[in-house]
Amino acid sequence: MKAILLAGGQGTRLRPLTINTPKPIVPIFNRPFLHYQIDLLKQVPEIDEVILSLNYQPRRIEAIFGDGASRGIRIRYVVEPEPLGTGGAVRYAGEGLTESVVVLNGDVLTQVDLAAVIALHRQRQARATIVLTPVAHPEAYGLVETDAAGNIRRFLEKPAPGEITTNHINAGIYVLEPDTFDRIPPGVPWSIERRYFPSLIERRETFVAYVDEGYWIDIGTPDKYTQVHRDIMDGRYATMPFLDLPPPRTAIAPDARIDPGAAIEGPCFIDGGVVVRRGARVGPYSVIGRDTQIDEGASVEGAILWPECRIGRGAVVRDAIVGRGSRLGDGLRVDRGAVLGDETVLTDHARGLA
Ligand code: GDD
Ligand code: MG
Repeated sequence: MKAILLAGGQGTRLRPLTINTPKPIVPIFNRPFLHYQIDLLKQVPEIDEVILSLNYQPRRIEAIFGDGASRGIRIRYVVEPEPLGTGGAVRYAGEGLTESVVVLNGDVLTQVDLAAVIALHRQRQARATIVLTPVAHPEAYGLVETDAAGNIRRFLEKPAPGEITTNHINAGIYVLEPDTFDRIPPGVPWSIERRYFPSLIERRETFVAYVDEGYWIDIGTPDKYTQVHRDIMDGRYATMPFLDLPPPRTAIAPDARIDPGAAIEGPCFIDGGVVVRRGARVGPYSVIGRDTQIDEGASVEGAILWPECRIGRGAVVRDAIVGRGSRLGDGLRVDRGAVLGDETVLTDHARGLA
């Protein structure tokens, strides 16, 4: 059985982080995001190949995952000549497939029991089965109405506030029958959510829901990207590097250097090669990427710093995301909600980024 990972979007909502780093490989702690999804797919022994459907900066992704041998699963790359949308991408990547295929949006993190989803699909002899998850704000997603027997009756992508009839949304995880792809026109942009799913309902094909109440998040905005780190540090989603770590969950790489007189308050993550100088503080919910240096008296709290950054003396960085190789000057203040791209340089005493 094959799985298609839809990982070709531009990640516009995560800009400027995605200017140099396509969304599928933004780091979650110290691993590119797709690692977590490949781990999920590997839990189903029947899945023997992952097809990465790419468009934006495909070579960067291929350079990390190669043929998959080092990840223990075969990986194949299908690069669209131009973005074909979610439906066009499935048709393009699924060319030649004849048996049921698992499709996953490349930006969702979940612990759904995929084998159970596949089993339901087979038991119901469905043409398509999709995973639903409850969320507080369905407007940002695809709203899905079902009947008492678990059949999907309505699929409404990005509903307006007045159209919210349920809190169940499309979790971005499907089992599909490739012989239904003939309705997707080849080579033109086409949306699986706005056209393919509604067409299954119109044609009264067996279209089934699998409701999962477990952890689920779409990492595609800065708020959610920060949230997923906090959830893992809080133990709401069990994975490396916090797996089995008791509270306050302070994960410090053995080759990080914490000088005497520096304060570390968990939960937090400090990667290899990091230097935290005397009088500096790494506060709760901080993520400090490889080889980053935090100078004397600086304070970092609730912030995610990518590798190779330098935070100047006495600087305060709070609830921000800072791209790779950035230089933040002495005594500056970067506050809530700031998202700085790779190699940002801010002068000493800069402020007002809140
Ligand atoms: N190959 C390829 N080509 N992939 C694409 C393209 C494309 O043209 N456009 C988007 N993708 C990929 C993205 O990289 C992402 O992994 C996935 O398809 C979904 O696209 P998003 O842009 O993240 O969509 P969304 O988050 O607004 O909505 C989708 O996901 C929600 C769940 O997170 C929809 O499927 C909603 O119905 C769903 O609720
Ligand atoms: Mg998304």
